[in-house]
Amino acid sequence: MPTLEGKVAIVTGAGRGIGREHALALAEAGARVIVNDLGGALSGEGHDDTPAKQVVAEIEAAGGQAAANAENVADFEGAERLVRQAIDDFGRLDILVNNAGILRDRMIVNMTEQEWDAVIAVHLKGHFGPTRHAAAYWRERSKAGDEVRGRVINTSSPSGVFGNIGQANYGAAMAGIAGFTLIVAQELERYGVTVNCLAPNARTRMTEDTFDMGAPAEGFDPLDPSNMSPLVVALCADEAQGITGQVFHVWGGAINALQGWTAGELFASDGKWNADALLGELLDRFPDGAAPPGMIAGMQAAGGQSLRAQ
Ligand SMILES: NC(=O)c1ccc[n+]([C@@H]2O[C@H](COP(=O)([O-])OP(=O)(O)OC[C@H]3O[C@@H](n4cnc5c(N)ncnc54)[C@H](O)[C@@H]3O)[C@@H](O)[C@H]2O)c1
Repeated sequence: MPTLEGKVAIVTGAGRGIGREHALALAEAGARVIVNDLGGALSGEGHDDTPAKQVVAEIEAAGGQAAANAENVADFEGAERLVRQAIDDFGRLDILVNNAGILRDRMIVNMTEQEWDAVIAVHLKGHFGPTRHAAAYWRERSKAGDEVRGRVINTSSPSGVFGNIGQANYGAAMAGIAGFTLIVAQELERYGVTVNCLAPNARTRMTEDTFDMGAPAEGFDPLDPSNMSPLVVALCADEAQGITGQVFHVWGGAINALQGWTAGELFASDGKWNADALLGELLDRFPDGAAPPGMIAGMQAAGGQSLRAQ
């Protein structure tokens, strides 16, 4: 395992599921960890500082160092306090894993404004706030002459990068997080910070009711949430300084560096298109129409499988 000795990490939503595994893995690699978790319900309601404290206790029991934080990542000032806590408690910040998340699935025809706003806030703004404050800290360190090796690991989803029915709010936030990764990676390269993103697949409270995917009786369990964390540890190693702006689909042992929104079919005209001519060209090139293949097809092409009950 690469050593992260001396580094300080924040993992948001680390009281349960995938974030908990990231926190445990980063601590095992030697990092001191701020375990953030609001501790609410899957829909985002309520709060409870117990899950974060439990993960801190697990890290400490294994000989590591950690501290709990119960801020809401969607609160811009709370995100600033979260970043400040890493610096106050452990003296520095090297790694930010944006992972906190909620679900409020609904078909678009029935989705409420609250369902839209809550999911966009926790995921999209919940990535912006912590990243914004960490970035300001790293820029300050870089300008002061420190050799910064900052890491931001974001969390998107197959739902966002491939498009899943019933998740217009969640998928839009997740696609936004993939785009956010591409932009912030380019902005922060100058300060020595890499920004990458996971599109994970794991059995957690978020997926256990939706999908039929019990653990196998024996052998490798591709949906164990701990399968998501070796990539986080690897990307946080100093040696991974050149890898940035990537979105990785992870299914068990299959990690796919995705290529989204690359150049596709070009419709070129010497000047402005005439709509009639363009329609003819569209129908010529897409004789069978053109429509998204959907999330399951995307996951399978990326080396994963359908999570749905067959
Ligand atoms: N499980 C999967 O297959 C899967 C697939 C794609 C994406 N994801 C994403 O991975 C991330 C982790 O999901 P999980 O499956 O471990 O779910 P989970 O529900 O087990 O964990 C999410 C954690 O985030 C915390 N949280 C929620 N809102 C918060 C807020 N505003 N501030 C701080 N903490 C907050 C929750 O309390 C919870 O402990 C999420 O962003 C999720 O959308 C998961």
